[in-house]
Amino acid sequence: MPEPSVPVPPPAPSAWWADAVVYQIYPRSFADGNGDGMGDLSGVTARLPYLETLGVDAIWLSPFYKSPQADGGYDVADYRQVDSLFGSLADFDTMLQEAHRRGLKVIVDLVPNHTSDEHEWFREALAAAPGSPERDRYVFRDGKDDVPGSGDGRIAPNNWKSIFGGPAWSRVTESDGRPGQWYLHLFDTRQPDLNWDNPDVREEMRSVLRFWLDRGADGFRVDVAHGLVKQPGLPDWEGVAAMVEGTSAPHLESHLPGDAPGAHTDAEEPHRAVSPMYPPSPFFDQDGVHEIYRDWNRVLAEYGGDRMMVAEAWVEPAERLARYIRPDEMQQAFNFDFLLAGWDAERMADAIDASLAAAASVGAPCTWVLSNHDTVRHSTRFGLTDPTSFPKGLGPADEQPDAALGLARARAATLVALALPGSAYVYQGEELGLPEHTALPDSARQDPTFFRTHGAEIGRDGCRVPLPWAQDQPGYGFSGGLSTQASAPWLPQPESFGPLAVDQQDDEEGSTLELYRAAIAFRAAQGLGSGGVEWTEEHAPDSGLLAFRNGEVVVLSNMGFASAPVPEGYVVVLSSCPEPAGDWAGMREVPVDSTVYLMAGR
Ligand code: NOJ
Repeated sequence: MPEPSVPVPPPAPSAWWADAVVYQIYPRSFADGNGDGMGDLSGVTARLPYLETLGVDAIWLSPFYKSPQADGGYDVADYRQVDSLFGSLADFDTMLQEAHRRGLKVIVDLVPNHTSDEHEWFREALAAAPGSPERDRYVFRDGKDDVPGSGDGRIAPNNWKSIFGGPAWSRVTESDGRPGQWYLHLFDTRQPDLNWDNPDVREEMRSVLRFWLDRGADGFRVDVAHGLVKQPGLPDWEGVAAMVEGTSAPHLESHLPGDAPGAHTDAEEPHRAVSPMYPPSPFFDQDGVHEIYRDWNRVLAEYGGDRMMVAEAWVEPAERLARYIRPDEMQQAFNFDFLLAGWDAERMADAIDASLAAAASVGAPCTWVLSNHDTVRHSTRFGLTDPTSFPKGLGPADEQPDAALGLARARAATLVALALPGSAYVYQGEELGLPEHTALPDSARQDPTFFRTHGAEIGRDGCRVPLPWAQDQPGYGFSGGLSTQASAPWLPQPESFGPLAVDQQDDEEGSTLELYRAAIAFRAAQGLGSGGVEWTEEHAPDSGLLAFRNGEVVVLSNMGFASAPVPEGYVVVLSSCPEPAGDWAGMREVPVDSTVYLMAGR
């Protein structure tokens, strides 16, 4: 293994993000402050007390910037403006100030791979001529000839497919009215990819970072962090790209040496043959991305040390992902291996081992994620016949989950996640045990994947449904109980949301909300986020038992088929099962589909 060129510093246990519980807010669906049926920043501010009582340390807001909303705001038209749907910059400042006053850090989303087609740069690029500096900020290319030598340029520059379905290239009409060049969009046609070889792009994104850092943002969640740099020459590629890499591609053995920890140049590091994207993708996880994150690391450092970045990078294996969190790059990366493990002890134990080892090799903390705005909610996934399945959306024609089983397992998996060392991410509504909305009418769907795949992929709307705050109010109180005048929520809510509303679970013994509150408080009190994992003798993944010690606490999760005994000398101090109500100390069995926290008996 090559030596790192600079020593790896020890993890910074004092950094707030190292063990933080971060709550993801999808702004359009969290809380509506002005009654228009769309969540907004004033809604977030109004609900900060709720997040404080949940006990989280930070919030991450998905994009709220000016955008035509072709992809729920991940199509940014102006990186420095708040979209009027969500409020104003003043609303952002108020929200951030209030969050800070309550001790909550604020992470904003940065979308550097692409802009909206309504971004002024893209408009300028369309108006400018091929070969112009304006076009060079994006990835414009001439098409290939259909009739050789004709110059018709009718065939896309290469065969890349959009992650949302269909081709990754669209052809523009030039100012003279003739069909012209093609531009690359790894996602929707309305999300043109930026050209990260262009210095304007690099400078602009640095300036965007500073804009939000100056306003007081504590960190950035970096969208498609593995996608910014493309392989020179943009070669054809026969693989299949998806947001969730590695779920459909074959897993290959590595024949290359491991990557070195620490900060160093990337030149000597071959792209691993083990990449789940086989053959390796020419547009994801290119070595050139790391130089960008080293640059941003220096920008954040100007602001005093505890600002952070978390990478959204669907990269495998864990060692490859760890390269994004080397000491001079980002601070965290979402652990999608854990999210993909499903309700399966062997897969979960492997994911835990691999993630901890890879993160430790670069001195970074791990993250633990079970749900987000791109994935079917884990309370639904775990209720499917195969609890390791990972559907890309669920519709009325698909298998419907066993809701009770899914919820029991989701609560149990959450207790595992919250007991692991590092940082845990909670997606809004999972603390209520919300299921995926699997019966949305097609007429309500908004996700571009649904349209670009002609419905073959149902899309992600089902996990983005507005939260229920109060069972008896219109829209389950999504619009803050404003009045019956409030518009209907932007996506219809299923009836199952009513009994799961916040006001039904608040202070209710055994509710999922109270379980999250208790687990987050326990995690903080026991310092689990800064602890470690030591597998105990009860650990038997092949029998469905996951058992580890973190400090004084033993976590026992039963993913098997028979109840497991509570080890001698231990008592249950928290259980994912509501029963026996308030009497865990007497429990001697851990039921299937549950997790318990144990401590030495008194
Ligand atoms: C990942 C985001 O999480 C997802 O919602 C979005 O559609 C794509 N990146 C494109 O920005």
